[in-house]
Parts: sequence; C-alpha cells; structure tokens
Amino acid sequence: MHFHKYEKYWLTFGVGSLIVFLLITGIMAFHNGSHPPSAKNTINHEKVEQIAPFDKPGVHKVSGKDWDYEVVVLASAFFYNPPVLEVPLGAKVKFIATSKDVVHGFEIAKTNVNMMLEPGYISEFVTTVNKKGEFLIVCNEYCGVGHAQMHSILKVVEPK
Ligand code: CUA
Repeated sequence: MHFHKYEKYWLTFGVGSLIVFLLITGIMAFHNGSHPPSAKNTINHEKVEQIAPFDKPGVHKVSGKDWDYEVVVLASAFFYNPPVLEVPLGAKVKFIATSKDVVHGFEIAKTNVNMMLEPGYISEFVTTVNKKGEFLIVCNEYCGVGHAQMHSILKVVEPK
C-alpha cells in the first residue's frame, strides 16, 4: 500500500495527538488524582439537618479511619455552614458535603477539591492539605441571585 507523503504526516500527527491526550488524561487521573466526585450515598434533603453527619456541620477529628479529619459542610442558598473551616497543615481530610435546597458547587480555589453538591446526594472528597494559608471556597454552580456572594474560607494552619 502506498501513502502519499502528506498523508503520512497527518497520520503521524493524528496518532501522536491521540497518544498525548491519553497520556494527559492518564496522568491527571492516576497521578494527580482528579476524578469525578462520588455521590453514591443518598439522603433526604428536607430533613438533612437532623441526619448525621449533617446535624453537626464542622471540622471533626476522627480516629481509626484512613483520614484524620472529617469536614462536614451543609450548603444552602446562599451560604455554607460552617462559614469558616480550619484544619492543621499536613492532615488528611475527608470533605463530606451536601445541599439543602438546589445544586451548589464546592470549589476550594488553588486546590483540586471541586465538588458538585446536589440535594439528596452526599458528595465526598479525600485530600491531604499540604499548603498553608487561607483558601477561598466558592460556589461554582449557578444557584440563584446570591450565587456570586456564596463563599466560605478554609484555613490551613500550623498544627498545634
Ligand atoms: Cu450556591 Cu452558586
């Protein structure tokens, strides 16, 4: 079979870009650990404030688990409960969040934490906080008139 010179260039380019894209996706998924947030568990969103762990939103130290802290967040139009989170540097943290009303986002700026919070579903993400400072948490799903004001803060502090 005979290929024209330009056809060979295009074939090489096409196969080459396919390999590059697959490599990028592979590195993102397996090395950087970015994948779609799991929302396997369901919850009655109308009674969510009476159901554990959302009856006690906040930062909780846990033991006997694969992570050190559980950060429980309840989102509603247009704020997060609690409004400020504080965890020690180096801790392995599991974020557990859901929404009381409509779809909200939970993105911690400058990290790879980014979840969609849907009423009736529990979103979870485990990560190790290895950068000190204050990180803005923003809602990145349009949820109504107060959407642009919907935010909270994650403080990563020196362990006591
Ligand atoms: Cu909540 Cu946008």
